[in-house]
Amino acid sequence: METNLEKATAFSKEHLQDFIKELQDILRIKSISSDPVYKSEMIKCADWLVAYLKGLGVTDARSMDSGKNPIVFGSLNQAGAGKPTILIYGHYDVQPPDPLNEWTHDPFDPVIEGNLLLARGSSDMKGQAMIMLSAIKSILAFGSLPVNLKFLFEGDEEVGSPSIVSFLNEHKELFKSDFVLNLDAGMVAKDKPTIVYGLRGLAYFEISVRGPAHDLHSGLFGGIVYNPIHALSELIAGMKDSAGRITLPGFYDDVLPLDEKERAALNALDNPDAYYIEQTGVKETFGEKGFTNVERIGARPTLDVNGIWGGYTGEGPKTVIPARAFAKLSMRLVPRQTPAKVLQQLTLYMQQHAPRQIQWEIKQLASDPACITSMDFYGTRCLVKSLEKVMGKTPVFKREGGSIPIATHFQNILGMESVMSGFSLPEDRVHSPNEQLDLELFEKGIETVIDFFYRMAEEGCK
Ligand code: BES
Ligand code: MN
Repeated sequence: METNLEKATAFSKEHLQDFIKELQDILRIKSISSDPVYKSEMIKCADWLVAYLKGLGVTDARSMDSGKNPIVFGSLNQAGAGKPTILIYGHYDVQPPDPLNEWTHDPFDPVIEGNLLLARGSSDMKGQAMIMLSAIKSILAFGSLPVNLKFLFEGDEEVGSPSIVSFLNEHKELFKSDFVLNLDAGMVAKDKPTIVYGLRGLAYFEISVRGPAHDLHSGLFGGIVYNPIHALSELIAGMKDSAGRITLPGFYDDVLPLDEKERAALNALDNPDAYYIEQTGVKETFGEKGFTNVERIGARPTLDVNGIWGGYTGEGPKTVIPARAFAKLSMRLVPRQTPAKVLQQLTLYMQQHAPRQIQWEIKQLASDPACITSMDFYGTRCLVKSLEKVMGKTPVFKREGGSIPIATHFQNILGMESVMSGFSLPEDRVHSPNEQLDLELFEKGIETVIDFFYRMAEEGCK
């Protein structure tokens, strides 16, 4: 007799093409959260998910007002009180596709090339969300789910989830579950299934600098005023020393050193420099002295300029001293650092170093503390076994450099741990032109999640 697990798995393989078509449908929606021009696309995408959940029989599926983009909720209680309730997390927003001319095709008209599906959001993370939904669909094709589920799909993850704290505080009971399944954290390589047990946080700022009251003729006034672009460049340049250390006062005070055991475990996953050179296209890697690449990415904080502008950048020469200059600047944070403290440190640095001839202002754009989860959580233990079975390899444990703001808030506000993994690869070009999803991993992902639900119900892994 075929078990339900076997039936659902066979179903998922037979219907893979249908699942890919559904993924292509949601990828056509331009749900770019950073630009208000796409508001109607955000609503369309949330409605698409609500309709999808309704189609699965999630009768209470609905789009909820979060103050920003809608949050999609739903629940499916088919397993009864004795079985765990898992919160399925996803974000339906994507990063802007810019620079558009570097795409080989339309970012919102998904195409399949060999084993790859190319589109904005294919890997980060509509593909990951559809892995979970396709797994659920495959199980429901035969009967009921062995575990209870709730759903939360947000539309502001890529802009730092600015309304998520107040939203979760307002709806604690609705979302309360035993734990969260979050497939937004990726895997380190195709043959290395991964459990991600740590994420960095983010503190994001815009600095604006003002010199003269208006732009000046650089001949008539050049030589007697401090050029604000020059001042801003000096300030930014001084934020890091030649050893790659960040110079903001007190920046490392709260950064915990890695203990030897964790250091050894992390470093077992490191790649040679050649790997990072190949992934990034740089001539040479560069980072904080005294740390390996894997430590620099997962366990050390960073500071990066994300954009800088000011003055004249159009065609031909224009002899001008600009009145203002701007930069977007962000720090990736590790546990115990807080965005509020980093703002103080940045402010102090500016007070100490900005030339007195210029005025400056700091705006905080996004803030999110780092997150560490327990490596020995029962949900994680179950996912380890499912990954082992389906992927044929024992998963590695990694701290990742990216951020998912909601993970910390799930812990703090709802007391819920997140089980974090994913089927996106470092070479998927997330946030970059020509984002791609590996469709073999999409298939394996569905199989893994099906196995995970049955395993949670039957073994529990406690
Ligand atoms: N999926 C990523 C985060 C990620 C990537 C985690 C790889 C682990 C491994 C997520 O969608 C993302 O890009 N988050 C933003 C959040 C920010 C705007 C607060 C990020 O990290 O830049
Ligand atoms: Mn992302």
